[in-house]
Amino acid sequence: MESNNLIETLLRSLKILLILLLTSAGLMFFLGYILVVGDSNNDEPIVEIANYVKPDSNFVGLWPGPADWQKSKFNAEQQNLINYGKELIAHTADYLGPKGSVKPISNGMNCQNCHLQAGAQPWGNNYFAVQATYPKFRERSGTSENQVKRVSDCFERSLNGKAPDSTSREMKAILAYIEWLGTGVSKNKAPKGSGIYKLKGLKRATDPVLGKVVYEQKCQSCHQAKGEGVLAADGKSYTFPPLWGPNSYNIGAGLYRISNFAGYVKYNMPFGVTYKNAQLTDEEAWDVAAYVNSMPRPTKDLSKDWPNINGKPFDHPFGPYSDPFTEAQHKYGPYKPIKDWKEKHKANKSQKPSLASL
Ligand code: HEC
Ligand code: HEC
Repeated sequence: MESNNLIETLLRSLKILLILLLTSAGLMFFLGYILVVGDSNNDEPIVEIANYVKPDSNFVGLWPGPADWQKSKFNAEQQNLINYGKELIAHTADYLGPKGSVKPISNGMNCQNCHLQAGAQPWGNNYFAVQATYPKFRERSGTSENQVKRVSDCFERSLNGKAPDSTSREMKAILAYIEWLGTGVSKNKAPKGSGIYKLKGLKRATDPVLGKVVYEQKCQSCHQAKGEGVLAADGKSYTFPPLWGPNSYNIGAGLYRISNFAGYVKYNMPFGVTYKNAQLTDEEAWDVAAYVNSMPRPTKDLSKDWPNINGKPFDHPFGPYSDPFTEAQHKYGPYKPIKDWKEKHKANKSQKPSLASL
């Protein structure tokens, strides 16, 4: 009886021991699982952080332009002139558009439509390099151009109108503002991020048919089906500026070159995008540029432009050219053969024939 009891007690404690062992084994397995699987999940961000990618140097450390407080070195009158210049860049049409309060000499667009943040947006076609690099020789006119000439060009081409007189308060204000934006930029230097980003070319020709699809999906909601844009409630300026048609930039404007359009749009459109959060692929940017610039727009007499045809940029859409490529290829690409030809031609030209070979 006694020994039976003893055996029973022994067996029972053995059972308890077994249960304890099994549960602790299960527990350890569970803990181990959490440690291994759970932890490997936690590891992932660490692995990602370790995978550093060198940032594209075209998009870091861009020139920010001057800070407003730096205007304190000017007297009140000078500050007013600079501020009026900024106002004219941002709201050109209110003063100089068809219903402008100063003089109706331009098409209703604002300089700011293409020179974002009043010409102070990195890679937004800003004016940071202007004061430091003008006057400069430009192939388009074949002359040395000063700031007045360059500003007038955008009035006559991008705003398809007339320039204010060089002695007017408006022209002086615009020049004072552009000079101010060049604060701190060394002579003959273009700071990083100034102007329009030069987008890498496609191997194929740009395609207006593909571009139409991009336009309908990503641009039309604001710029409208016929590219006509949307006038503001006061009828003076545009909420969404026109991309083609009678009220848009003319065929002599910088944006009529497909490379300029593509580079501008890639890092600034749809509206709200900057170089930090581009939405279009390069192909979409090139194709939508081809589509928009294949639509009708105001003309301009360009017979005096590019007096030296060798100086025409690869994507200037009007002949005659010094190379054998057609107007269509210059306009839409592929551009590489044209660039290669120009490069080769330049190399040949600089090789002076030696006396012996004559
Ligand atoms: C339809 C678009 C558009 C509008 C509107 C426009 N511009 Fe321009 N502007 C351009 C483009 C494109 C360039 C040339 C960029 C290039 O070739 O790199 C340019 C260049 C310039 C430059 C020379 C910049 C440089 O660094 O060499 C100045 C100055 C200028 N514009 C002033 C103005 C002023 C002032 C107005 C308003 C009266 C104006 N622009 C309106 C598109 C526009
Ligand atoms: C959400 C509205 C919106 C969308 C979508 C949009 N834009 Fe714009 N776009 C604007 C506004 C607003 C401006 C003028 C910016 C300013 O004045 O500050 C502008 C200016 C422009 C300009 C220069 C001015 C002109 O009229 O020539 C071009 C070129 C342009 N957009 C092209 C495009 C393209 C191409 C797309 C599609 C990929 C696009 N935009 C999508 C609102 C939009």
